[in-house]
Amino acid sequence: MKPHSIPSLSSSYSPASLLEAFKNPSAFLLKLSCKGQDIGEFKAGPVHIVCVNRPEWVHAILVERASAFRKMPAVKTLQVFTGDGLLINDGATWVKHRRLAAPAFHHKRIMAYQTIAAQAAREAIRGWRDGEVIDLEQEMKRLTLTVVGRALFTRDVNEVADGLSHDIDTALNYVNGLSGRVTLPIVRSLARRNREALAAIARVDAAVRNLIRSRRGQPARAEDAADFLDMLLAARTESGEALSDDEVRDEAITMFVAGHETVATVLTWLFYLVAQHPEVGAALEREAKEANDGDDPAGGSLARRPYALRVYKEAMRLYPGGFTIGRQATQDVQLGDYLIPAGAWVMISPYSVHRNPAIFPDPERFDPDRFTPENEQRLPRASYIPFGLGPRACIGGQFALMEGQVIVSTFARHVRLTNVTPGPVGISPLVTLRPDRKIEMQVQKLDVQA
Ligand code: HEM
Repeated sequence: MKPHSIPSLSSSYSPASLLEAFKNPSAFLLKLSCKGQDIGEFKAGPVHIVCVNRPEWVHAILVERASAFRKMPAVKTLQVFTGDGLLINDGATWVKHRRLAAPAFHHKRIMAYQTIAAQAAREAIRGWRDGEVIDLEQEMKRLTLTVVGRALFTRDVNEVADGLSHDIDTALNYVNGLSGRVTLPIVRSLARRNREALAAIARVDAAVRNLIRSRRGQPARAEDAADFLDMLLAARTESGEALSDDEVRDEAITMFVAGHETVATVLTWLFYLVAQHPEVGAALEREAKEANDGDDPAGGSLARRPYALRVYKEAMRLYPGGFTIGRQATQDVQLGDYLIPAGAWVMISPYSVHRNPAIFPDPERFDPDRFTPENEQRLPRASYIPFGLGPRACIGGQFALMEGQVIVSTFARHVRLTNVTPGPVGISPLVTLRPDRKIEMQVQKLDVQA
C-alpha cells in the first residue's frame, strides 16, 4: 500500500520563513511543532523537517527504531566546547563513552551528590539580603553551575569549580548562541572568531586538562569518596579499555553543558509558576517544615518531600529544559500510514508532546497533582518525555530530579520568592527554553539562620 503523504505544517514556504528557520531554528521548530497534530512536515528545497507529537510514534522513533536515526547534524556546533562528548557522539564511540560514564550516575552516586545540592542552595540563599530583588535566571544558573561543578570536581572546589564559573558561563552562552541561533555556515564561521569566548574555552580546557593530569598521578580514591572526575578516570570497559585524557576532558565539559542550563531553566520557570500559585508555595513550605530534619534535605530524607518532586515534574512538563529532541533518519521509516524518508530531520518537542489535552486536560494549567504516583502511573508511555527516551535518553535524569527536589525543598524551608517582574513573561527558545525577559523576584527570608 502506498504511504499517505504527511500533512503539511505550513502553507507558505516563503523566503521569509526559510530565513526564520535558518536564523533561529529552535524557535522555528517549536512554532511548527506546536501545531499539535500527530505528525506534520515542513519541506522547502533541501529542508525537510518532520514533527512528531503522537506518543506511540515518539516511542517508535526514540526506542523501537532508534537505530534507524542519528543525532541531528546541527548538534555538532557544540563540538567547539565539548569536543566529542556524549551529547554529539554517534556509533561505536558513543557506545563506549556511555558505558564508561554510566557508573557516575548510579543511584548510590546520585544520593551522595545530595549534600552538594543542599549546601549550594543554602549558600545561594545566604548570599541574598532580605527584601533584595534578584535576577532569578542568573541566580539559578549560578546555583546549578556550582552544583554540577562540585559534583564533578569535589576535591578541587575552590580552584576549579568556583573559580572557573565565569569562563564556563561565557563559553556556554557562546555555544548556545551558535547552536540555537546561527546555522548559516558563513555567520557561524564569523561567530567562531569571538575572541573573548574562545579565550574562555581555552582557559577551561587548560584547567580541566591540568586537573586530569594531576589526578592521574594520585592514588585512586575509595568509591564512596570519588567525585565525577574520579569515576570517569577509573572507568574501564570489559576488555580493560579506559577513556583517554582527551575523552575524559570532553565528557567532563559535556556534563557542564548538558547539566547546567537545563536545570537552571526548569528552576527559573518553577519559581515563576510557584509565585503565581500561592497555594502550591504554601504546600511546599508545609512539607519542608514537617520533614522535621533540620534544614537538610540530604541524608535520605527526600522520601519525606514528595510534593517538591511533583512540583518539579509539573514545571518540567510545561517548560521542559531541553524542549526539542532532534534526529536524522538514516533509512526510510514507516510510522503508521506515513513514511519518513531517509535523510529527513525529525523533531520531537517535549514542549508540544506535554500539551496534549487528551493526556493532560487543560494543559496550560499548573497542577503538580498530575504527578501523584497514581496519576503518573496512568500516563501513556512516551507522553511525558522531559529527559527523552531510549538509548540516547538523558544520562543525568536522576541527578537532575534529585537536584531539583533538593533545591526546591531547601528554598521552601528558608525563603519565599515574590514575583515583581513588570508584565507577563514569554518564552525565548534557544538551546533551552529561556524566558524572554529578566524575571525579577523579591526575597523574603523565612528564618534568621538563612
Ligand atoms: C532538567 C534537567 C535536564 C533536562 C530537561 C535534560 C534533558 C535531556 C534530553 C531531552 C536529552 C536527550 C537528547 C536526545 O535524545 O537527543 C538529554 C541528554 C543528555 N543529558 Fe540531560 N537533561 C537535564 C539534565 C542533565 C544533567 C544534570 C546532566 C549531567 C550532569 C545531563 C547530561 C546529559 C547528557 C550527557 C546527555 C547525552 C546522553 C547521550 O546521548 O548518551 N543532563 N538531556
